Amino acid sequence: MTDKASIVNSSPLDEGLKMAVIYHSNYGHTRKVALAIEQGARDYAQDKVEVRALDVDDMDWEFADAAQMMVFGSAVYMGSITAEFKTFMDSTSKRWFHRKWHGKWAAGFANSGGLSGDKLAALQQICGFSMQHGMNWAGFPVMPTGHSEQDINRLSSFMGLMTQSGNDSPEVTPGEGDINSAKLFGEHLAQTLINQPPKLQLNKED
Ligand SMILES: Cc1cc2nc3c(=O)[nH]c(=O)nc-3n(C[C@H](O)[C@H](O)[C@H](O)COP(=O)(O)O)c2cc1C
Repeated sequence: MTDKASIVNSSPLDEGLKMAVIYHSNYGHTRKVALAIEQGARDYAQDKVEVRALDVDDMDWEFADAAQMMVFGSAVYMGSITAEFKTFMDSTSKRWFHRKWHGKWAAGFANSGGLSGDKLAALQQICGFSMQHGMNWAGFPVMPTGHSEQDINRLSSFMGLMTQSGNDSPEVTPGEGDINSAKLFGEHLAQTLINQPPKLQLNKED
C-alpha cells in the first residue's frame, strides 16, 4: 500500500461520477466478487459513471478521493475483515479528521468460506467505518430467489452483499448465483449514484 498519509487535493465535483470498489483478497475469491460488482456497475452505467476496482495492496488514492461512491469489501479471516483491510481503514484517519469523504455513498461486501462464517461481523465493521467517515450507507435490497448456489442473494443479506467460496480456485468459486448477485449489487449501486448523486461540499484545507 502506498501514499498512506498524504491526502490528494482532487476536485471531483465537476469531473463526472465515479465509483471505487475497494477490496482485499488473499487468494482471489473476494477479488472475483469485486470484479463482478465492477462489471455490473459498468454494464448498467455505461459512460455515466467511471467504475474502478481497487486492491488495497495497490491503492489509487486519487481515484478513491474523487469517487462519490465507495464500495468496500473484504475476505473474512478469523471472523473479521482481513488485517490488510484494517490497515487500509486505519490509513484513512487523516481523511476522517479532515472529513474528506463526508456525504459520499458507501456500501459493503464480504466473502468467506463458511455459509455464515461471521460475514455479518465483517459487514458491520465496514459499515461502522463508513459511518465514522460520515458517509451514507447503501444496502443490497434484492430479494433472495432461494438458497441454492444458483440463486440470487442466497445468503439473504440486506446490509450488504455476502458471497461464499468453497475449497477450490476462484475460477470455480464463488459460483454463478453469487457472481450474478454481485453484478446486481453493482447495478443497484450505479443506479443509486446516478439517481441520487451526493451534493458534496469542497473540503476545507486546514
Ligand atoms: C486464516 C484463515 C481464517 C479464515 N477465517 C474464516 C472465517 O472466520 N470465516 C469463514 O467463513 N471463512 C474463513 N476462512 C476462509 C476464507 O474466508 C476463504 O478461504 C475465502 O475464500 C478467502 O477469500 P480470498 O480468496 O479473497 O482471500 C479463513 C481462511 C483462513 C486462511
